[in-house]
Amino acid sequence: MNYLSIKDIDSIEDWVKEARELKQAPLKYKQLGSDKTIGLLFFNPSLRTRLSTQKASQQLGMNCMVMNFDKEGWALEYGDGVIMDQGKSEHVKEAAKVISQFCDIIAIRAFAGLEDKDLDKAEVVLNGFVKYASVPVVNMESSVGHPLQALADAITLQEDKVRLNDKKPKVVLSWAPHPKALPHAVANSFIEMMQRQEAEFVITHPEGYELDPEVVGDSTVEYDQNKAFEGADYIYTKNWSSFREYGKVISKDVSWTISEEKMALTNEARFMHCLPVRRNVVVNDAVIESENSLVIKQADNRTYAAQVVLKKILESI
Ligand code: CP
Repeated sequence: MNYLSIKDIDSIEDWVKEARELKQAPLKYKQLGSDKTIGLLFFNPSLRTRLSTQKASQQLGMNCMVMNFDKEGWALEYGDGVIMDQGKSEHVKEAAKVISQFCDIIAIRAFAGLEDKDLDKAEVVLNGFVKYASVPVVNMESSVGHPLQALADAITLQEDKVRLNDKKPKVVLSWAPHPKALPHAVANSFIEMMQRQEAEFVITHPEGYELDPEVVGDSTVEYDQNKAFEGADYIYTKNWSSFREYGKVISKDVSWTISEEKMALTNEARFMHCLPVRRNVVVNDAVIESENSLVIKQADNRTYAAQVVLKKILESI
């Protein structure tokens, strides 16, 4: 069993329920992972994913090995039949098989390069390990998806929405400005998760920032951010670079920054962001520091999202 996408979850409702049970009794399955090892391979930086996945594995009794592959590992080749006389020292065919001898689960973070859309959509690094590893693989944020984040967000929404007393929540995914080109992974997985929730779901962004139509499907897109925010119960904010002009920053429009004025348009909405976030660019201090901000709870729930995923994989091997 791999966990590569939110689509690998049969019932989000059941997984969220199980994650919340784990949150109440995090050490209940401490024996499940004894004598099992997980290897966390990071090709990009991380704070939350690294520490929460490590903590989740330890709460399941696993050994956890972490490798910053981009700095500490050999540069890997992924292509077939390549004459490796340039900068790449090792092929994923050997690396994945070797790591599979040391680890019972391999978890990988490998962001989009944002230069070649087809290459990113092919998930060369993640799928290279899936193809050649002989153990389960977990996606800790790949080119096009961040399913551990989306599962944590589902847990956070489920916990918080009791305050709405069975009202169907209005959840808005809002683009916000950012100085750098960022990947689409968090937004993609959040959309895929929201498409399976009982909610009114709206995506809002400036024209030109349309996400992959294969992901967006028939989800509602509203180009007027103020209109999208009307009556919203949750504002989930994320920057992403253009998909059409692939990897380009085509607007830094500060009128899209999440401010108190914007939040005043909502139904006392809770503010959500996966973190890290650039304050006073993506969101103003007053919003992220308000009591309606859920960002720290979201980060906490990363542990239980990872723990339910690892528990299910351990039960399957
Ligand atoms: N949200 C998230 O994945 O955080 P890190 O990049 O710090 O792991």
